[in-house]
Amino acid sequence: MFVVVDSMSAKLKVNQLQDGLCTKRVGRSILFSCRSKSTNEWAKKLATYGAEEGTVVIAATQTRGRGRLGRRWDSPTGGLWFSLILRPKLNPREASKLTFVAGLAVTQVLREVFGLNAETKWPNDVLVNGRKICGILAEMNTIGETVNFVVVGVGVNANFDVEKALPEQLGKVATSLENELGRKIHLEKLFRTLLERLENLYELFLKEGFDPVLEDWKNYAGFLGRQVEITGRTEKLIGFALDVDNEGALVLRLEDGTIRRFFVGDVSLQA
Ligand code: BTN
Repeated sequence: MFVVVDSMSAKLKVNQLQDGLCTKRVGRSILFSCRSKSTNEWAKKLATYGAEEGTVVIAATQTRGRGRLGRRWDSPTGGLWFSLILRPKLNPREASKLTFVAGLAVTQVLREVFGLNAETKWPNDVLVNGRKICGILAEMNTIGETVNFVVVGVGVNANFDVEKALPEQLGKVATSLENELGRKIHLEKLFRTLLERLENLYELFLKEGFDPVLEDWKNYAGFLGRQVEITGRTEKLIGFALDVDNEGALVLRLEDGTIRRFFVGDVSLQA
């Protein structure tokens, strides 16, 4: 099923979003809108009404795109902004690791398709040359101790120049495929490839658990073994990034020698 909710002046070629897609469930239903407030909000609403696992919503632009920790996510035309509905039969603690599944999928695709030196950054970023190219926002809905649905939102800075299309303060910390490659890419093809990889890694995660995903994710984690600064809700600390453990926690050795695990925070590399 492919539904175009509104395609006014869409630059995305909507008829190419599903054509030739090689997946079993992911992207079998796709809804497209030229402009959405936030594809995560849209997907959550659909999931609440019973949308099936694998449903994807995609927008050419978002007017109120959302990032982690209540931040806004700028989503100009030319980017890839979509959200995927999943209904894993897992407990909430396990399902929260889907952020890593999505981060790994994007990292692998950017490396394989474009030859970019993409890296994973805890907990939910993909970087190229130290700048953020993709962010992931996974949101869960639970009923008691069971997961009702997870919405995995993926935002890839693709066909725009960050200095022109994003606010000034992001120009230095963000990058895009166009900035890295010096050309525009085939957005619809990237979308399909990402859905295929997401499905493969999701199946691997369901079948074999978190370990194989985490192992690959860590292979691309350039911040491990480096000195980092972590900004939490109430504190800012410096430490040596020892590991990301099998609960998805960042393990740091702090300056006073103590070892601490973090579940929330923003990490930046120390010079
Ligand atoms: C972050 O790095 O803070 C997460 C950013 C996630 C952005 C994507 S774009 C598609 C989806 N819809 C949203 O409103 N957010 C996510």
